Amino acid sequence: MDMYEIIKNRRSVRSYKPDPVEKGKIDRILEAARLAPSAANRQPVCFVVVKDEKTKLQLRKAYDEKWFYTAPLIVCACYIPDKAWKRSDGKNYADIDAAIAMDHLIMAAEAEGLATCWIAAFKPPFVKSILNLPPGVEPIAMTPVGYPLVTPEPTYRKPLEEMVTFI
Ligand SMILES: Cc1cc2nc3c(=O)[nH]c(=O)nc-3n(C[C@H](O)[C@H](O)[C@H](O)COP(=O)(O)O)c2cc1C
Repeated sequence: MDMYEIIKNRRSVRSYKPDPVEKGKIDRILEAARLAPSAANRQPVCFVVVKDEKTKLQLRKAYDEKWFYTAPLIVCACYIPDKAWKRSDGKNYADIDAAIAMDHLIMAAEAEGLATCWIAAFKPPFVKSILNLPPGVEPIAMTPVGYPLVTPEPTYRKPLEEMVTFI
């Protein structure tokens, strides 16, 4: 599928069919995340894929939106600050590296006919304890992954002139 079509078609989907996601598709979207670039190639990123219904139920403490749990899979992207490259002024790029990898996964999911939705409004301490994240591993974003029940219309984007300056 054409890259520009994938970018254009992706939506934040907030209702999912219960149909399971094929293993081949899960493997391919995770591989897309693995191939993401990272600052100085440090790869300070890891993912947790939640299929287990009991764990999904527990995650409600971290993010209490019913629609989120209609998807068969939840993916949590994490960053590891101690493994990341730091700029000379101290800026740590771990969360940016994790976001790039997560976006690879999200775009690959779209290419596979799957739906996703970036989620940041969760309570990190609950995610950390429920997913048993080791010390130093921080959750940055989650997404449900599954087949869309309702695909929303595109949302507004500001015009290019408002976001780009040519010098
Ligand atoms: C970093 C990030 C965090 C987000 N967090 C949430 C969230 O916690 N809950 C939610 O419902 N949507 C969340 N969204 C989805 C945005 O609301 C959505 O991307 C935006 O409204 C544009 O709509 P679209 O994705 O359908 O193009 C998040 C998106 C991004 C990129």
